[in-house]
Amino acid sequence: MNPVKFQINGTVIEANVRADMTVLEWLRENPQTRGTKEGCAEGDCGACSILVARPGDGDPEFLAANSCIMLMGQIEGASLITVEGLTDNDREPHPVQAIMAENGSSQCGFCTPGIVMSLCGLLNRNGDPNEEEIHDALAGNLCRCTGYRPIFEAATKAASNGVDRLQVLASNSIDAKDTAIAVGNEGSIFFRPGSIAELCELKSENQAVPLLAGGTDLCLDVAQAKSRWPMAILTGSVKEMLAIEEHDNHVNFGGAVTWEQALPWLRALYPSFATLVRRFGSTQVRSMGTIAGNIGNASPIGDGPPALIALGASLVLSSIEGEREVLLEEFFTGYRATVMRPDEVISKIKLPKPQKNQQFRVYKISKRYDQDISTVCGAFSVVVEDGIIKDAIVAFGGMAATSQRCPGAENALNGEQLTIEMAAKTALAVDAHFSPLDDWRGTAKYRSKVAANLCERFVRDLGGETVEVMDL
Ligand SMILES: Cc1cc2nc3c(=O)[nH]c(=O)nc-3n(C[C@H](O)[C@H](O)[C@H](O)COP(=O)(O)OP(=O)(O)OC[C@H]3O[C@@H](n4cnc5c(N)ncnc54)[C@H](O)[C@@H]3O)c2cc1C
Ligand code: FES
Ligand code: FES
Repeated sequence: MNPVKFQINGTVIEANVRADMTVLEWLRENPQTRGTKEGCAEGDCGACSILVARPGDGDPEFLAANSCIMLMGQIEGASLITVEGLTDNDREPHPVQAIMAENGSSQCGFCTPGIVMSLCGLLNRNGDPNEEEIHDALAGNLCRCTGYRPIFEAATKAASNGVDRLQVLASNSIDAKDTAIAVGNEGSIFFRPGSIAELCELKSENQAVPLLAGGTDLCLDVAQAKSRWPMAILTGSVKEMLAIEEHDNHVNFGGAVTWEQALPWLRALYPSFATLVRRFGSTQVRSMGTIAGNIGNASPIGDGPPALIALGASLVLSSIEGEREVLLEEFFTGYRATVMRPDEVISKIKLPKPQKNQQFRVYKISKRYDQDISTVCGAFSVVVEDGIIKDAIVAFGGMAATSQRCPGAENALNGEQLTIEMAAKTALAVDAHFSPLDDWRGTAKYRSKVAANLCERFVRDLGGETVEVMDL
């Protein structure tokens, strides 16, 4: 069996561990890396934030990620930086740490290592972040005692400072194997295929073994329920699935592309989708979480599917038998059920480029602006020619067992002008189509009301009214 080989703070480590051990457990068992803290153990609080560069060509990019929902098998070939690695062991604080201390931005200090790592991750990518970018970088870090204003102030002061040492560490990338290997020990082994052919072969031979991408969904099972996994198949090193390819009429996102990697493309193609994705978990979650994982988990409240369905996205499903393409709207067959066979993987997500005169909006309604799952997510795509709507696609998440289109609403929109009366007709059609569930996120009545209101909001938004409120 192969030990897990990775780099931490510039030192290469070969760890003979179970592949399903969390990275946070490993850090906390090692006296040199106990600066990383455990708070929630479910990806919500950011106390366990570290910086991770996934293996790949060129200069590695270090992004903040949650070590509590990351497994040792996932970091084979990766480089990590923990709070101890910011100082080159010279006992001098990193400039971000110094500013946090001078500014009174830490009290009990429990959250501080995670906050410092998130800020260093931001500054390492962007030496001159604006307010919104600082806010985004901190959205996955909770502080129970200091208050966010002093933390934000420290971040602003640090914004033009403190990136050099990370760059030194970033140049020490390790040799990652690009062919299939298995890492871990006899208790838990993860297969790490390097190509789509190897992945399909492995999936065909081990159909009951879970596919593990970013783990931001699946790893909660280990971190919270303490499940143990004898085996998993990783997608993060499959080179074809790491690619983003632009074609004349569409963009293909590989099945291991993360939300953070997709974000610049979505910003250019569909800004409203990018606004949604900026509210998808936190930087830590988007750094690891993939588009394919958001679809593969078939959750009725996933944020990606309603937007992707409204945009006419399709999936390429691959197996040893070849490829087949399935429209995303036909992929989900019921609660957490899909048309994907156990020997198949999502190898690509095909996103059509905007058509002439196409308008697209997606609205996420959740209890908090940041770091929250949708209660309802409504996505609207229309083509408006000479003031008349055509080709409407309306899709909702959180309203049924699957994300799904609402044909009645589309019929109400097509051939009409953008008026409030027409929005009311669309809302009635949405109300008639869905019988949402009651749960702790929202009652059925609340969900129906919100979904209907989103129809009006879409029409007002297209009509140029300012509806850029916090929960957009
Ligand atoms: C704190 C926190 C906040 C979150 N916030 C949001 C949010 O705002 N909105 C939201 O929608 N979700 C959210 N999530 C859920 C999760 O982050 C997303 O669903 C994410 O996209 C999952 O991707 P992943 O790569 O981590 O999937 P994984 O956990 O690795 O896998 C999820 C499922 O997809 C399957 N899978 C993965 N890759 C493939 C593939 N290529 N082919 C077929 N099946 C595959 C896996 O087998 C598994 O069943 C949040 C999670 C956390 C912990
Ligand atoms: S311990 Fe809270 S996000 Fe990891
Ligand atoms: S300083 Fe105490 S939790 Fe942030």
